[in-house]
Amino acid sequence: MDSTRLRKIFLEFFEKRGHKVVPSSSLIPSDQSVLFTTAGMQQFKPYFLGEKSPYGNRVVSIQKSVRTSDIDKVGDESHLTFFEMLGNFSFGGYFKKETIEMATEFLTKKCQLPKKKLWFTFFSGQGDLPEDADSRKFLLETGIPGQRIFSFNKETNWWGPTGNEGPCGPTVEIHFDLTGKPCDWGEKCLPNCQCGRFVEIWNLVFNEYYQNQAGELSPLKQKGVDTGMGLERLAVVCQKKASVFETDLFEPMMGIIAEGDDLERRRIIADHTRSAVFLMSEGIMPLKVERGYILRRLLRKIFNNIEILGLEQDKIYELVRTVVENYKDIYPELGHNEEKIMTIIQRESEKFEKANRAGRKIYDKMKESAQGGELTGAMAFELYSTHSIPLEITQGWERRDGAEIKNIEDYYKLRKEHQEISRAGAEKKFGGIGGEASSPEAIKLHTATHLLHASLRKVLGENIRQMGSDITPERLRFDFSLDRKLSEGEIEEIEKMVNEKIKENLPINKEEMPLERALGSGALAFFREKYPETVSVYSAGDFSKEICVGPHVESTGGLGNFKIIKQESIGSGIRRIKAVLD
Ligand code: ALA
Repeated sequence: MDSTRLRKIFLEFFEKRGHKVVPSSSLIPSDQSVLFTTAGMQQFKPYFLGEKSPYGNRVVSIQKSVRTSDIDKVGDESHLTFFEMLGNFSFGGYFKKETIEMATEFLTKKCQLPKKKLWFTFFSGQGDLPEDADSRKFLLETGIPGQRIFSFNKETNWWGPTGNEGPCGPTVEIHFDLTGKPCDWGEKCLPNCQCGRFVEIWNLVFNEYYQNQAGELSPLKQKGVDTGMGLERLAVVCQKKASVFETDLFEPMMGIIAEGDDLERRRIIADHTRSAVFLMSEGIMPLKVERGYILRRLLRKIFNNIEILGLEQDKIYELVRTVVENYKDIYPELGHNEEKIMTIIQRESEKFEKANRAGRKIYDKMKESAQGGELTGAMAFELYSTHSIPLEITQGWERRDGAEIKNIEDYYKLRKEHQEISRAGAEKKFGGIGGEASSPEAIKLHTATHLLHASLRKVLGENIRQMGSDITPERLRFDFSLDRKLSEGEIEEIEKMVNEKIKENLPINKEEMPLERALGSGALAFFREKYPETVSVYSAGDFSKEICVGPHVESTGGLGNFKIIKQESIGSGIRRIKAVLD
C-alpha cells in the first residue's frame, strides 16, 4: 500500500459517500493570526460558522500542513514539521455517528488494518463541559469493545480553535497499537502512553462550540465535523514500518544520507529539507522575520547537521531534487519552482560554507597552538563565544580528526558563567526591562505593555507590529507600525480594553519552550533581535501571549488605571505611544 495509493483510496472512499474533493490550500493561511496552515479545516473555517460552502456540505481534502509546534520532537518515530493531512468534513451535515462509522470502515476495510489494533479515546467532560457520551455510544455500536475505548480531558480530546478564535469541540482519537505489548505501566499503558506502543493516526473533531477571542465558548448553531489523519503515520501502519522515515515517503531521502550512526540527525535533515522545499515552493524566502525566519532556521539546521554528521554539503542538492521528484505530480508548485528553490538553496549553502570555512580556519589555528595539539573545553568555549561556532560543530570536526575535546566540562562551566553575565543585557534587548528599571512600578508598566500590544492588534488589526519599547518607573513607551494618527475614538477604545483586562484580574503565566514552538503557537515576538533557542512565553489569560524575558506581575488586577498620555509619529510609518498607570 504505497502512499500514492493511500491518497487515492482515501479520496475515492469519501467521494463515493457524497464528498466533494477540494484541493489543498496554500501553506500560507489567510488567517493572519497563524504562521502556517496547520490543519485541513483552516480553509473551511467560514463554512463551519454558517457561511454557505460552494462545495456543498461534505468535502474531502489532502492538505499540506506545517506545524512548528512539534519541531523539538522531530527525530523520533512519528513527529514531523511538514505533513499531508487527510480529512473529511461536514458543515451541518452528518455528525458523530456517521463520522465514526466511516473512519472505522475506511481503516479496517480499505486499509485492511486489524480492528483489534485500533483503540479509541473520547472527551471525558471537564468543568461545565459535558462528557461526550454520544461518541462512546456510537463507538460501541460500531463494534469496538469497551476495553479499547477510553476518555481523556480537554488537553487531549478537545480541538481548536486555530488562531485567535473559531470553531472547536470534543474529539475522538483513533490510535494504532504498534507492538501489542504494554510497557512497564501494565494496564495503564493506554493510548497517549509515551512508551511508543501507540501512534495516534486520526483525529475526529466535532465542532459544537465557538470560542471567541476572550476564550469564551458558545454553542454553534450548525454542528460540523473536521477530521485529520497524517498520511505519513497512516503509511507507517499500512506499510508495517517502525517509523515515518522508513515509509516510501522518506525512504529515498534517507537513502541519500544513509551513512553515519546518528539516526536522529539524519531524520531531522530529511524532515527539514522536505518542509523547506514546500515552504520555498510557495515563495517563502529565508528572512529575519516570521515565516522566513522559520525557513532560515530550518535551512541552518540542515546545514549544521550535515556538517556535524561529516557528510558532504552537496548532499542537500540531491535531497532537494528527490523531494521535488517525489511530490511534483501531486503538488506541481514544486516542479514549477524547482530552479528558484535550487537558487535559494545554493545561495544559503554558499553562505554557510563560507562561514564554515572561516570557522574551520580558526579552529585549525587554535588546535595548532594548543598544547600537545589537543583542543580543550575552554578553547571550544572560545570558539563558541567569540566566533559563534556551536560546540557540536567543533565536536564534529574533532571526530573527523579522530580526536576528542579534552576537559569538556570546562566548556559547560564557562558557558554557564557567561549566560549569567549576559542575562541582564539580554533582558533589555529581548523586550524585558532588566537592570535599574526593574522597580515594582516598571514591572507593572511592563505587563501593561503586553496588554497594550494585544489591544492595539485587536482594535487596529493583526498587522500591527511592535517596533520598539522602553520603560521607566514613570511611563511606558511603545512604538509600532502604523502610518497614520490614531483617532480619539481609537485611543479611547484601546484604553478601555486595557482597563477591562486589568479589572478582569487575568493571571500571568510563564512557560519556557523552544523558539519554534513559541512562534508556532502564535506568541507575539519582537523580531529585531536574535532570540535564544529556548524562550519564555508570557500570557495574560487568553488575551495576550508574547515571547519575553519578563519580569511581570502575577495578575493584572493591581495595575491601576491605564492612560495614554501622548501619541506621535517617529517617521517611516512608525507610531509612538506613551502611557502611564495611575
Ligand atoms: N483539525 C484536526 C487536527 O488537526 C482534525 O487534528
